[in-house]
Amino acid sequence: MRPARIAILASGTGSNAQALIRKAQELGADKLEVGFVLSDKEEAPVLERARDLGVPAFLRAKFNDRRTHEDAILMLLKEHHIDWVLLAGYMRLLSPYFLKTLQSWHQSASQVVNIHPSLLPAYPGVDSIARAYTDRVSESGVTLHLVDEGMDTGLVLRQQKISLGNETLPEWSAKFHRVEHQIYGAFLTDIAEGHQKTCYFTET
Ligand code: GAR
Repeated sequence: MRPARIAILASGTGSNAQALIRKAQELGADKLEVGFVLSDKEEAPVLERARDLGVPAFLRAKFNDRRTHEDAILMLLKEHHIDWVLLAGYMRLLSPYFLKTLQSWHQSASQVVNIHPSLLPAYPGVDSIARAYTDRVSESGVTLHLVDEGMDTGLVLRQQKISLGNETLPEWSAKFHRVEHQIYGAFLTDIAEGHQKTCYFTET
């Protein structure tokens, strides 16, 4: 069996992308390959972070319409025979067309995953950590879920709670990032070890 090939889509800082790449490299190229990182934002630090770790990084931004943009991304995913698409702070919704095209290459399986800093369905969208902090919730957390066409909807795969005590917002945010990296890393390990089944890319 060849290694599972993943692509990471990210729009910003890239701490999750970096943690995923490091984890994949630790697990070994015989089990996992990060085909590329893609950003939809010019000058997103994630591009540099990926290249520093030896992973090809592509920018696909500024398309006139969503379909052309998604087709440009699909072309890369197809060229690299990507099995799993991992969203790591990718701040765009994916269309049913995009998701169905991927499923057609993966024996109808959904292999697009997102990490989100709240206990979904609470606090979807942007600034989830700060909004929960402002509301003085007693706890929030991190959710790993399959991606559908909604905003931070889709089947929940894993959740981990994070309680709120006397932390400042930056301190509390740092906890989220640590938990995100752990949860995503554990998911990657499951893929590498075969505990999470991979439907391998086949061209249709
Ligand atoms: C992460 O906290 C991730 O959970 C969040 O964006 C941040 C990206 O950080 N994603 C969402 O809010 C998705 N709706 P990073 O660029 O350092 O990985």
